[in-house]
Amino acid sequence: MAARSRGAFVVLEGGDGSGKTSVLEALRRQFPEAVVTREPGGSPYGEAIRSVLLTHPQASEADGMTHLLLHYAARRDHLRTVVIPALVQGKLVLCDRFAASSWAYNVRAQECDACAELFPTLHQYVVGSWEPDLYLWLAVAPEEARKRRTGGGNHYDARDAAFHTRVYEGYEEFFERYRGKVVRIDAAQPLFRVIEQATGAIQAHLHATQGRMV
Ligand code: TYD
Repeated sequence: MAARSRGAFVVLEGGDGSGKTSVLEALRRQFPEAVVTREPGGSPYGEAIRSVLLTHPQASEADGMTHLLLHYAARRDHLRTVVIPALVQGKLVLCDRFAASSWAYNVRAQECDACAELFPTLHQYVVGSWEPDLYLWLAVAPEEARKRRTGGGNHYDARDAAFHTRVYEGYEEFFERYRGKVVRIDAAQPLFRVIEQATGAIQAHLHATQGRMV
């Protein structure tokens, strides 16, 4: 894939009940020039893989390795056709979920040890130099998230409390390695505070990289 870009690749991560959807809507208004996208999906082919992952009748029975590979297949197409072209044009890309979700959900919560071994290699081949510049982690403790959950959602959302605890721990573990590139936002705060902090973190990043941006 092409060489590293001059745009800014910002990812929003957080479990079910973190208020991520509302925050993303607010960011869309704050940064109207941004390309707002999501994973799994975000491109026509990626969205087809998304339905296999989330709505196929057998989706909840497939194991972590199957899911990890499908999420990375969708990610590859999304990067190639949406994210990289936008970054090359110097744009701000705001993406709902990315690789931290794969580590938290597919490797850790789905308890796939072989996935943990494969992950660095798979990630390197698929993502290469197109790592996010900034991860915003809307962190909400598993007990608090449970209270906020509205029901419905996908087959991951419907899993037991232990699964969601592993998601949280998986995020912690992933972001430990990404220190310096992650801003942890306490999602138990009132929504306006969460939005304020998310907006501030993006503005600070854009400010710090000004001059490198187109
Ligand atoms: P979505 O409806 O977008 O959920 P949310 O509103 O919580 O973001 O569903 C995406 C689901 O896919 C979510 O439960 C997390 C899961 N997921 C993975 O398991 N691995 C991944 O790599 C990604 C990107 C998402």
